[in-house]
Amino acid sequence: RGRLLSFHRAPFAIDDSAAYAYETDGALLVENGVIVASGTYAAIKAGAADDVVEIDHRPHLIVPGFIDTHLHFPQMQVMASYAANLLEWLNTYTFPEECRFVETAHAERIASRFFDEMVRHGTTTAAAYCSVHKASVDAFFAEALRRDMRMIAGKVMMDRNAPQGLLDTPEMSYDETRAVIREWHGKGRNHVAITPRFAITSTPEQMDVARSLVHEFPDLHVQTHLSENRDEIAFTCELYPEAVDYTDVYARYGLLGPKSLFGHCIHLSEREADAMSETGSVAVFCPTSNLFLGSGLFPLRALNRRDKPVRTSVASDIGGGTSYSMLKTLDEAYKILQLQGERLNPFDSFFMMTRGNAEALSLVDKIGTLEAGTDADFIVLDMAATPAMALRAEVVTSLADELFLLQTMGDDRSIVETYVAGKPAKSALAAA
Ligand code: GUN
Ligand code: FE
Repeated sequence: RGRLLSFHRAPFAIDDSAAYAYETDGALLVENGVIVASGTYAAIKAGAADDVVEIDHRPHLIVPGFIDTHLHFPQMQVMASYAANLLEWLNTYTFPEECRFVETAHAERIASRFFDEMVRHGTTTAAAYCSVHKASVDAFFAEALRRDMRMIAGKVMMDRNAPQGLLDTPEMSYDETRAVIREWHGKGRNHVAITPRFAITSTPEQMDVARSLVHEFPDLHVQTHLSENRDEIAFTCELYPEAVDYTDVYARYGLLGPKSLFGHCIHLSEREADAMSETGSVAVFCPTSNLFLGSGLFPLRALNRRDKPVRTSVASDIGGGTSYSMLKTLDEAYKILQLQGERLNPFDSFFMMTRGNAEALSLVDKIGTLEAGTDADFIVLDMAATPAMALRAEVVTSLADELFLLQTMGDDRSIVETYVAGKPAKSALAAA
């Protein structure tokens, strides 16, 4: 029981109340990890069994669990590394750190910590890169299964331009990705993604393998990086001189499509944006990472408003990103739009973190709303979680105000509880 907020579609404006459902005294009825009813407390109470267990979260706000559409779990110890730009950051800090994931014990320890942080920050689904090592993928999915979380992840494919300890071969990447699919896809709520890191770290032979995997497993997600940094773009075009631009590299290997997630997409040309739009590919906005690495300002509105709009989502990009919190991520997104003379209203933000990201992952039938029949992954938010927030909350007069306060001042402290498959997972962490 609490106040409920869930979206039907993207809001067109701040006062577009038809975009969402808001119940001031609402409730969710949960059974076997699924929401079986959602609505006013009175209606839910009337329809529920007499012995139903009631949990009262009033006066807090209940929203769908946050969804993070791009992050790297082996980069938890890379966060806050002092680098000038993407390529220096990768070579100096990130690649050496990912080499450690050859060891199962290390991968298991970090995977466990990773899921703790997701739960603490109210993120119930993420699309994650593991490392090149199959052990890292096994550790990740085993932990997701143990916690019954809906997760997307993949073995990173990379066979050049990185340290020896971080390279596979085209054959290995094919065999191990297939093994990961066989062992983990559809087990619990696990989804495997085909994950070539980016064009710079794959030979044309490995890109051919990625193409074959997409052919063989057309329902799987594909995730990679695209157009993040000027030097990265120039190097990619040198490595693939036959391609007309960076996006065309991926197009030539059949990697564009509605299940494909492209991290960053900051510097796309009109031609590239058209190609993304025509194929239904998703451009993933990673605000804190883009600011931290000085990569650039993601043109969210320009992509949304084109004649041929590009699908977009939002993500932390841990460890290029600097926060696990989707609230803090959207706070930085807001500032990036401000710098471009644009706005991101709080309803937009909450739509993006929930239903918007679920649509980008083609998983809106499972997650991202509070609708009956979907996974019981939801969170409880407190706009007065800190003394400074409580003071500001005294003068909150509307739902929009409350959401904007949560986004601007909130973080993990605002997440009172995280329910995963109907079970309180955040309080369970504290108890453990
Ligand atoms: N491009 C290729 N690999 C990475 C990575 O790990 N992080 C970011 N931000 N960009 C990348
Ligand atoms: Fe990334």
